[in-house]
Amino acid sequence: MSTTDPSAISTITEHKAMFEAMLAKKLDAYIPDAELYVKAKIAAQINQLKRERNAVILGHNYMEPALFHSIPDYVGDSLELSRKAAQTDKDIIVFCGVRFMAETAKILNPSKTVLVPAKRAGCSLAESITAEDVRKLKAQYPGVPVVTYVNTYADVKAETDICCTSGNAVEVVNSLKTDRIIFLPDQYLAGNIARETGKHIIFPSKKPVSQEKQAETPNMDWQFLGWHGACEVHERFTVDDIKMVREQFPDVLVLAHPECPPDVVAASDYSGSTTAMIKHVEKTNAARYLLLTECSMGDNIAAANPDKEMVRLCSIRCPHMAEITLEDTLAALQKTQYVVTVPEDIRVKAFNAVDRMIKIGGTGKRD
Ligand code: 13P
Ligand code: SF4
Repeated sequence: MSTTDPSAISTITEHKAMFEAMLAKKLDAYIPDAELYVKAKIAAQINQLKRERNAVILGHNYMEPALFHSIPDYVGDSLELSRKAAQTDKDIIVFCGVRFMAETAKILNPSKTVLVPAKRAGCSLAESITAEDVRKLKAQYPGVPVVTYVNTYADVKAETDICCTSGNAVEVVNSLKTDRIIFLPDQYLAGNIARETGKHIIFPSKKPVSQEKQAETPNMDWQFLGWHGACEVHERFTVDDIKMVREQFPDVLVLAHPECPPDVVAASDYSGSTTAMIKHVEKTNAARYLLLTECSMGDNIAAANPDKEMVRLCSIRCPHMAEITLEDTLAALQKTQYVVTVPEDIRVKAFNAVDRMIKIGGTGKRD
């Protein structure tokens, strides 16, 4: 008499249930049924393995719809996911997001195994600045506190007084109560926060400057010193994009992530972190909305709000977030790859900057 493996039965049951759940979320509007069926099977396998290995999966809001709606225990923006990483009691953290986010989880959880399901999963902002750049700025402006966006690598965070995310940057800046702040590395987030908090912002010269010119900078009227980094997705949105859409749809609600250029944010109706944008669409009475952010998040929001119309302007995907797939997440759990490591001396210093940020809080809401 042949016996059937109970774990095979439970995989089949879980696969079917996952497929039904994906259909209920109307994901078939974005992904053909046959593909959704295959993805549901992989998601069911991941969820089984996740339980067996006592793992937690954190998913950033930019994950593609099938992944976003299936395997994460928690989804959210950078701030929410840092908080979840700080609270977890699981042995393994699988971070479905980019490397700097997974590094933040490791900084907060040195004894846990942190996996990111892609070899690189970079970020144009994180790559725009080095720890040496920060040390040079600190030497040039001694005593001025350094606020660093979490979209940076651990060695940069280690040179920092406090981190921030798009969800708490205003609270972090206000908490410092100093005349001047070095705010790194996103020139646009810095510009938006400077505008919101009424500070005058300047940027260090990209070209080498004479000693005399350098000596003049401390005497200039500035409260914010920025850097030249930019998000390769958000820097592409323009005020003309907004004008064009408003001409065609005068009632459209325009939401822009604060990594967009300040003139774009100023021409929008709302700006906030990825989660703040999601919540704003949920509660708005506007019949249609335009999102100036990564396009997978648009798909996730559209699937969750079938009664509102999303105006499709473009299809800018973050190539780094797009590296994270269900297939690679399964492989990450099966092979325990790619393990995120942070040298202990750097981790301890970076921890102080991240922990200080988490203790400040922040809502992600910026209206
Ligand atoms: P949030 O913190 O708003 O999720 O943004 C992270 C990010 O990388 C946006 O490009
Ligand atoms: Fe980095 Fe921009 Fe991608 Fe966010 S969307 S991870 S800031 S490149």
